[in-house]
This record gives sequence, C-alpha cells and structure tokens, in this order.
Amino acid sequence: MNTQKKVIVITGGAGGIGQACSRTFKNQPLIITDYSQAKVDETVKILSKEGFDVIGIACDITSKEDIEKLIKFVADNGSLKALIHTAGVSGTVKDLKKLYTIDLIATELLIDAFYNLAERESVAILLSSMMAHTVTVNEKYDEALINPQAPESFDIVSQFVNNDSDTMYNFVKRGVLLLSYKNVDKWGGKGARIVTVSPGVIETPMALKAAEEHPERMEMIKQATPLKRNGKPEDIADVVHFLTSDAARFITGTDILVDGGVIQNIKKMS
Ligand SMILES: NC(=O)c1ccc[n+]([C@@H]2O[C@H](COP(=O)([O-])OP(=O)(O)OC[C@H]3O[C@@H](n4cnc5c(N)ncnc54)[C@H](O)[C@@H]3O)[C@@H](O)[C@H]2O)c1
Repeated sequence: MNTQKKVIVITGGAGGIGQACSRTFKNQPLIITDYSQAKVDETVKILSKEGFDVIGIACDITSKEDIEKLIKFVADNGSLKALIHTAGVSGTVKDLKKLYTIDLIATELLIDAFYNLAERESVAILLSSMMAHTVTVNEKYDEALINPQAPESFDIVSQFVNNDSDTMYNFVKRGVLLLSYKNVDKWGGKGARIVTVSPGVIETPMALKAAEEHPERMEMIKQATPLKRNGKPEDIADVVHFLTSDAARFITGTDILVDGGVIQNIKKMS
C-alpha cells in the first residue's frame, strides 16, 4: 500500500461537476471513477493532457462488488484525503426505483465503504441539491430516507411523491442530507468530516437534459435567481475544493447551499 500519497477520489468524475472539481486539484493525486470504463479512460486522457496527476477506474456505484474494487484501487494508490461524490442522475430518469437506488442507496454504500479508508483529516463531500430544501421535515419519510437499504424504505417514500420522478429526486436529495447527519459522529470519531453541497441549476449535461424537458421552468428559475444567471460547474467546484482544504477543518455535518440565492424565491412561489 502506498500511504504517502493523499488521494482525492471523485465519483461521477466524467460528469460536469465531477470534471470541474478535478480541475481545481492541480498537483494533487486524483482518482476519478464513473459508470463506464470508456468515459473514465476518456476523462483521464483529457485531464492528463492538461497536466493533472490522475488515474481512474470504472465503478457502477449501485454495485457492492464494483465499490469493493474501487476501495481496493484507492487503498493501493494512497490514503484518503477526500471523497467527492458527484455521481448521480436527475428526475429525467423516470424509473423511481432506479433513481432511488443510484442517488440514495448507492450514496449510503459509498459512505460506509469509504468510512473504512477514512482517517484523521479525511473528508467526504456528497452532492445533494437545492431541491432537497423544498422537502419539509416529516418523521415518516425521514425515517425511511435515513435507512434507504431497509426493505420498506422505497415503498414508504413512494407514498409521498405522487409517482413523479422530479419529486422523488427532491426527496432522495433530502435523504443525502440526512445520511450526512447520520454519519457525522461516526466520521468525527476518526477525526474525519462529512459534508453536503447543494447546487442550484448548474449548466452541466444533467441540467441541460432537464432544461430540454422543462424549458419554461428553467427560464423561470433563472429569472428568480437573485444573481440572474445559472451556475457554472466551477461555482460548485471552488466550494468543494475549499471544503477539502485545511481552511474548512471545522466544517462537518452541515450543508452548503450554492444556488445563487434562488431556493428562497422558489419556496415563496410554491
Ligand atoms: N447540474 C445541476 O444543475 C445539479 C443541480 C443540483 C444537484 N446536482 C447534483 O450534482 C451531481 C453531479 O451532477 P452533474 O450535473 O455533474 O451531472 P452529470 O450528469 O454531468 O454527471 C453525473 C455523472 O454520474 C455518473 N453516474 C450516473 N449513474 C452512475 C452510476 N450508477 N455509477 C457511477 N456513475 C454514475 C454519470 O455517468 C455522469 O458522468 C449529481 O449528484 C446531481 O444530482 C446537479
């Protein structure tokens, strides 16, 4: 095992926010992972050409076997400085169970697996969404969201989402917040941190796909944003970078909302 190198692991590394996060880590060892080997290879090639110290491995985050391989790969290449978990899908995925599995169950699988690698000053940064903040506290579904692997969890949450994938997305992203709160003491016991970041509308392939489905809603959100623009992947990446740094050493168990201020206006409208 190479314990000298402190590596930064980025899931969804081929995606919009994942790639932007990578680009903030010049001269730091990066491991990127994504669903397909072809996407990983392509991204590693691009980033290497740009001068980044990067290697990669494919991992379907819904597969425990793939996660095991990822963990071994990370352990073989260094010790964990940060897990930046950006892999996910949006409400454009209409299969609610699939959405639940990728965005929530897999997040818990990763938190648990990476806990074994975490050490003093490691940090896990999980991507939630500003839409998580539209879902209010409710004992019944919160209990299910915080235990996503329980057999009844999905069915309980489904009762509240009216068979709508966008609503389910909002709920699973609330689940991501709850999972970080659930794990904060455990990670703290190792001197490690766990934080969520909630982006607003960020111009990545994911958001562009959603924009195609709901052009009026996307325009309305832009107009309701106090800063009158959508976010760029770099707006998120810079915050994520800060959270991995020593300057953020006392930040854990909380959510950082990076939405240009729009969620307050969205809440007023509904
Ligand atoms: N873009 C936005 O407007 C926005 C807003 C709020 C939250 N977010 C969140 O930020 C994160 C990153 O979003 P993005 O805009 O960069 O999306 P993106 O679609 O550009 O990237 C997501 C990546 O996740 C990967 N992925 C999907 N399923 C996977 C699986 N089962 N295993 C491994 N990898 C998988 C995809 O291949 C893709 O490369 C997501 O969690 C998303 O919900 C994005």
